Amino acid sequence: MWTERQRAMLAEMGVRVFVQPPQAAPADVLLQDEPMASDPPQSPVADAPPPVPTIARPPRPASAEPPMRTPSAIDTLDWEPLREMVAGCTACALCESRRHTVFGVGHTRAHWMIIGEAPGEQEDLRGEPFVGPAGQLLDSMLMALGLTREEAPPERQVFIANTLKCRPPRNRNPEPEELARCEPYLQRQIALVQPKVILAMGRFAVQSLLRSNEPIGKLRGQVHQYQGVPLVVTYHPAYLLRQPMDKARSWDDLCLAAEVMERGPQAR
Ligand code: URA
Repeated sequence: MWTERQRAMLAEMGVRVFVQPPQAAPADVLLQDEPMASDPPQSPVADAPPPVPTIARPPRPASAEPPMRTPSAIDTLDWEPLREMVAGCTACALCESRRHTVFGVGHTRAHWMIIGEAPGEQEDLRGEPFVGPAGQLLDSMLMALGLTREEAPPERQVFIANTLKCRPPRNRNPEPEELARCEPYLQRQIALVQPKVILAMGRFAVQSLLRSNEPIGKLRGQVHQYQGVPLVVTYHPAYLLRQPMDKARSWDDLCLAAEVMERGPQAR
């Protein structure tokens, strides 16, 4: 059952929830062509479900190891040295045009890790991921699931990171070389957080994490693995702002990720 606040959040996403008998699946949603709200409410805490006790992580299957790559000094860094290294990074030409690096925000042991593409103008200005219009939609999506980027226990406070830590000029697509240079930072962030589920948003997050050039439409709706962590693919919020018809599909993906969180990777 959805709380009033969660329904309001879903409405902001452009998703209408039918009022169903209590046993109905939450994924029963219908697209609603509504304009986006600009500002989601600040605190979802009051109506959120109670925290779930932490459960032990299953061992990582050897078959789910990522492709071999040369170990680097980054692989052993803890949060602060990692943050400092990103802040001073000059590994690619993006360092010349950036105003701030965008390291990522959230709980350092978050159960949910959200991975986007690259900082845009607002993110570059503020040094925080997803603070522009796409970020407002992302916040609404998270709130609909009882999640937040603001301070909360690790089952509710997500960690948000990007595949690139610097803004590509004029928001052009990331170059393969830039993705490759930045990848060890994201890999280390994932290794430190040890999330229970990863939500990969958009083409470049998927290319980086799954080494796949398949379109999102083909990869969504299933549970993938990244280093033994269940990974769900969905559309990028910026794409959803341009193509609101796909918001209902994206909501299905979030519900799949929530199922994985509840029941484990064999959810579907
Ligand atoms: N799009 C992204 O993928 N990441 C951001 O931080 C902002 C927009």
